[in-house]
Amino acid sequence: MLQIIILAAGKGTRMKSKSAKVIHTLCNKPMIEYIIEESLKLTNTIDIVLNHQFDKVKEIVSKYPVNIIKQDLQNFPGTGGAVKEVSLKGDKILVLNGDMPLITADELKKFLEVDADIVMSVMKLKNPDGYGRVVIKEGNVLKIVEQKDASEEELKIPYVNAGVYLFKKEVLEEFLPKLSNNNKQKEYYLTDIIEMAVKKGLKVKAIEVDEESFKGVNSKKDLAEAEKIMCRRIKDFWMQQGVIMHLPDTIYIDAYSNFEGECEIGNGCVIKKSTIIESEIRPLSVIEEAVIKNSGIGPMARIRPKSEIIETHIGNFVEVKASRLKGVKAGHLSYLGDSEIDEGTNIGAGTITCNYDGKNKYKTKIGKNVFVGSDTQLIAPVIIEDDVMIAAGSTVNKDIKKGSLAISRAPIKIIKNFYYKFFGRKE
Ligand code: UD1
Ligand code: CA
Repeated sequence: MLQIIILAAGKGTRMKSKSAKVIHTLCNKPMIEYIIEESLKLTNTIDIVLNHQFDKVKEIVSKYPVNIIKQDLQNFPGTGGAVKEVSLKGDKILVLNGDMPLITADELKKFLEVDADIVMSVMKLKNPDGYGRVVIKEGNVLKIVEQKDASEEELKIPYVNAGVYLFKKEVLEEFLPKLSNNNKQKEYYLTDIIEMAVKKGLKVKAIEVDEESFKGVNSKKDLAEAEKIMCRRIKDFWMQQGVIMHLPDTIYIDAYSNFEGECEIGNGCVIKKSTIIESEIRPLSVIEEAVIKNSGIGPMARIRPKSEIIETHIGNFVEVKASRLKGVKAGHLSYLGDSEIDEGTNIGAGTITCNYDGKNKYKTKIGKNVFVGSDTQLIAPVIIEDDVMIAAGSTVNKDIKKGSLAISRAPIKIIKNFYYKFFGRKE
């Protein structure tokens, strides 16, 4: 039986963050969740070691069927200390660092295919900075030296430890108790087991992997680089499903968005936690927690949470929040918040739902085939029934009955030749 141990107790000092490292997100989803989801494809026996911001991280990981363990960082710090805390259940034990969000189940399967006492992973990097170096002689791994403990010669080694290991249970049982913290960081390094095992004549095999899947995230720069890779994977997936993307490098799609049917996404769009069905999202639009169906959005539109937009045209500089629009045209410069707008209705440029009085939010309801003239203010709560016309520039603070015209307008005053008097110029 395979057991997976995920190490996520560390402080993440190099991240320079108030949050625990493993809950930083890639494409809106915490790093640790990707690792758990991939691990669950291989086994149901997963232990996850936590400590730093224990409650906060626990809350995130406990939605998965994993066994949570708290590491005693005071007495047993380090990756070896973390593994010491776990009761060894599997005959084979795969140990993963919790800061490797790009790992995939397919890559992990490769470890299971190798016959050895320890299978570890090595990357050859142009810039090995931050990783432990792997000392290899005549094709055989001798040991792993942590960057902080490495000599100048060792720092030049381009081979690094990727941070995934498959151990036979007996190997951990034998060597975990023998780890010492006699090093620069005064930590129990899991990586020291390699040298011990080699010296004992055990079979240690290394497989070569690449950063595309094994990158460790230590700093915010690493986080940004990993997010780029993850976001590209997400976009590649959706393009394969038939979504058209213009300049995909400029598009951000989070891990929780879905597309159905043929959709087209313009450059510079941001799409989070949304479902887009048979719609076109034009350049530079931002869409969050919305459902958009058979519609055209943007360019430069903003659709905010709890919006449902069906068979609707939303043009530039229109902001929609917590609204349901069906069969509507809102072409220019509007704020539509807490509203429900029905088929055949046209929202003129500059229309604003005044949904907030400084204390509470109120709803605006607009029926079918309503013509809302430009620059209308709808003071909520307000109900506009079907077939209503609202004249441009009106302030609507009363419900309007079916078929009516509403017009609120101060009469215009025209003063002849005022210009010439004011500037003292001649006609
Ligand atoms: C570790 C490896 C290094 C490797 C690199 C790959 C060790 C000693 N070093 O270094 O050889 O090149 O990963 O990315 O293993 N953690 C705990 N408890 C602790 C300390 C760490 O659970 O007491 C967890 C962290 O939360 C993190 C993971 O272990 O998810 C790795 O810790 P980190 O400090 O990032 O190790 P590196 O210095 O990157
Ligand atoms: Ca790391």
